[in-house]
Amino acid sequence: MNSDTFQHGGTVFAVARQLGVAPEEILDFSASINPLGPAPGVSGAVAAAFSRVVHYPDSGCHELRQALARHHGLEAAQVVVANGSTELIHLLPRLVPARSRRALLVAPAFSEYAHALDLSGWRYDYLPLRPATGFALDKEQLAATLDQGYDLLFLGNPGNPSGRLYCLAEVEQLLDLCRDKGVFALLDEAFMDFCEEESAKRLALARDNVLVLRSMTKFYGFPGLRLGYALGKAEHIGKVARHLPPWSVGVLAQAAGLAGLADRAHGEETRQLVTGERSWLAAELGRLPGLTIFPGAANYLLGEMGGELTATMLAEKLLPQRILIRTCGNFAGLGERFFRVAVRSRGENEILVRAMGELLS
Ligand SMILES: Cc1ncc(COP(=O)(O)O)c(C=O)c1O
Repeated sequence: MNSDTFQHGGTVFAVARQLGVAPEEILDFSASINPLGPAPGVSGAVAAAFSRVVHYPDSGCHELRQALARHHGLEAAQVVVANGSTELIHLLPRLVPARSRRALLVAPAFSEYAHALDLSGWRYDYLPLRPATGFALDKEQLAATLDQGYDLLFLGNPGNPSGRLYCLAEVEQLLDLCRDKGVFALLDEAFMDFCEEESAKRLALARDNVLVLRSMTKFYGFPGLRLGYALGKAEHIGKVARHLPPWSVGVLAQAAGLAGLADRAHGEETRQLVTGERSWLAAELGRLPGLTIFPGAANYLLGEMGGELTATMLAEKLLPQRILIRTCGNFAGLGERFFRVAVRSRGENEILVRAMGELLS
């Protein structure tokens, strides 16, 4: 296997090439995408929008911003749309007011924060949260660390890959702390659609030092189309919009976003399915010898191996069965024993449990 095989989630095209099979033949538990796929109306909306590819897209994503604002109960001026939240993660270090260009990453964390900071000439440190505490945030430790002179804090909520949800009251305290210490906070809520009531979107409107990042590729089920957005104070949002390249969100992605948002029933069905399947999968995997499964609030679960196998060995043994999982050895704060699996439909989850059961028993 290529050394990159397990370094990122969702590498189905590369893995399919290596195995000599079609991407559709891979059961991909490594990327955490809505198991129901996009809402039924999305493919028709994208097909209908195809006639518009002869035009440049609406650069300001006017209609989609209006729809997102309605969806969240905000003003359109408080929303900016981008080509996946990754585009925003890469842009924002260039815009955040900085004295020392030092960032603190609450870990384990999505690897693109570090990549983006590297590319923008920032230095960064990790604040590793401990598996033994369930990845709890220690406010005193955070305060003491921020005193060392940081300009920027990245926090994923729910955490990825930990799955840990930090409740709104806790995030509010964290934002107070950041404000007092002159730190700008980027709250990555890429998976918050699964627990919307804990979103800090409203807090962001009333504060100068925070932006909330959201993704439409996971919950809405179309990572191949690329769509994300930021929420926050209109003046910050305006600045982000001015720095995005023009036309970064194509007509097909805009159409998909509108159709996905419009289908509230599909969203509800997704939440219900994922909540039920997450409990089922956590219980079944938790019964396998040596495995610890951490509680998660989104559509993935973090696991820790206790026996002799490492997560990479497990992943390599699952691959010939065309099952792909995410090893977590390259996440700061985790090690070779950690892996992440997406919550999929019951039949698919059963295949995973059976395959892992045979390998671990
Ligand atoms: C925590 C987190 N944030 C952001 C992203 C980027 O999502 P996208 O660029 O598809 O919107 C990912 C993708 O896996 C993620 O896991």
